[in-house]
Amino acid sequence: MTSPFPDDFLWGCATAAYQIEGSPLADGAGASIWQRFSHDPRLMAAKGDTGDVACDHYNRMADDVALMKELGLQAYRFSVAWGRVLPDGTGKVNAAGLDFYERLVDTLLANGIEPLCTLYHWDLPAALDDRGGWLNRDSADWFADYARVMFDRLDGRVKKWVTLNEPWVITDGGYLHGALAPGHKNVFEAPIASRNLMRAHGAAVKAYREVGRHEIGLVVNLEPKYPASGSPEDTAALARANAYMNRQYLDPAIHGTCPAELATIFGEAWTDWSADDLALARQKIDFVGVNYYTRNVTRADDSWPLNAGMVKQPLATYTTTGWEVFPQGLTDVLLWVKELYGDPAIYVTENGAAFFDPPVAEQGRVEDPLRVSYLRQHIAAVGEAIERGANVKGYMLWSLFDNLEWSLGYSKRFGIVHVNFATQQRTLKDSARLYREVIATNGACLD
Ligand code: BGC
Repeated sequence: MTSPFPDDFLWGCATAAYQIEGSPLADGAGASIWQRFSHDPRLMAAKGDTGDVACDHYNRMADDVALMKELGLQAYRFSVAWGRVLPDGTGKVNAAGLDFYERLVDTLLANGIEPLCTLYHWDLPAALDDRGGWLNRDSADWFADYARVMFDRLDGRVKKWVTLNEPWVITDGGYLHGALAPGHKNVFEAPIASRNLMRAHGAAVKAYREVGRHEIGLVVNLEPKYPASGSPEDTAALARANAYMNRQYLDPAIHGTCPAELATIFGEAWTDWSADDLALARQKIDFVGVNYYTRNVTRADDSWPLNAGMVKQPLATYTTTGWEVFPQGLTDVLLWVKELYGDPAIYVTENGAAFFDPPVAEQGRVEDPLRVSYLRQHIAAVGEAIERGANVKGYMLWSLFDNLEWSLGYSKRFGIVHVNFATQQRTLKDSARLYREVIATNGACLD
C-alpha cells in the first residue's frame, strides 16, 4: 500500500462554536447574531431549531475530546464564540468564557490532538451588530482587539490560527440574500461588509505578527466553476461567478487587488477600495484554508445580481443539501489555488456531506454508505492534488458531529458521529470507522 500523503500530513475534524456548543448565554456570555436569528421565526428557515442545546458540547467537552482520541484524530478545528470571551464584543473580558477555550485546548493537547483555532465562524456579538456589525469600519479594530486577547492567552499552545471562516458566505448569506444572520437583503451592504471583513482579517494578521509565533491563515469556501458551453455569454458568466465566489477574498488577501468583475456584478452598489484598505487586507498569511463541498457548472441567466446560474447534472448524485458530489472538483480547486496564489501551504479546512441518516442509531451502528463513498473519493482527490504538486498539509473533515446546520437547523446531518438530539447519545457512523482507518494508515487504506 502506498500513500500520496506526506508523513506529517495532519488528519482532523472541524466544527464551529454555535453549531455544537449549546449554552450560548452560559457563564456571562453575550448573545450573538445567531442567537437572535435562530430565535426569530421570521428569519430562521427551520423554525424552532436554535443553538440553545445543539450537541451540548459546552458541557460535554471532555467526553467529546475522548471520542476524538478514540477516532485517532491528530487535529481538531474549532471556533471561538467571540461573545463568550467579550460579551459586549469589545472591552471587558469574561474570564469564564476564555477559560472554556483554554480548557478545551489543554484537553486536546493532553490527548495528543493539535488545536486549529478559528476566531470567527459567523457568531458576531449582538452588541456589535447594534453598532452596525460588519458594516461599521471600526469592526476591523474590534476584531483585532478580540484576536489579541486570544493570541495573548493561547498562542504557543495553539499553533494554527484562522481569522475568518468563509467571508463569502458571511456576506452573501448574511447581507445580500438574508438566509443567514444577521438576515439582511441589501445589495449596497454586501460589498461594504466584504471589505470590512477583509480589513478585519488584515488587522488580525497584523496583530498576530506583533505577538504570535506560529501560523495564521484565512479560510475560504471555493467552488470550482466549469463552463456550461463555450458561448461568449457563458464564458462571461463563468468569469463573474469565479470572481464573486472564489476570488473576491483571496485576491485582496494575497495579491492586494479586487477582481474587476465585481464592479459589473454590484453595479451602482460598488465602490473601489482605497489603496489603504487594499494594503490592510493584504498581509502575508502562512496558509490558505480551503472548504470544498461541490462544483458549479455555470451558465448565463437572469439571476440577481450575478446573472450566472448552475446547470443541474442529470446523472450525478446530490447530497441532501442539494450539492452535486464531484470529487474531481477538489483536486481542481487545490491546483487552482496553487496556480493563482503562488503555491501556498493549504489545509483542506472543511469537506464532507449531508445525507439522510436516521435520527436514532440502531444497535450502536449507523450505516452511511453514501458518506463513506463521498469521503473515500474526496480524500483520494486530495491525494491526487498532492501528487500533482499542491502543497496540501492537512485535511479537516466536516464534521465531527451532526449539528445545527445554520438556518436549516438539525434537518441536515453532516457528522461522522451520529448525535441523537433527544438524548445526546453519540454513535460512530460507518464513515467514522472509515476515517479512523484512513488516519491510522495515513491514507494508504484507500488504495
Ligand atoms: C460552513 C459550515 C457549514 C458547512 C455545511 C460551511 O459553509 O463553514 O459551518 O455547516 O459549510 O453547510
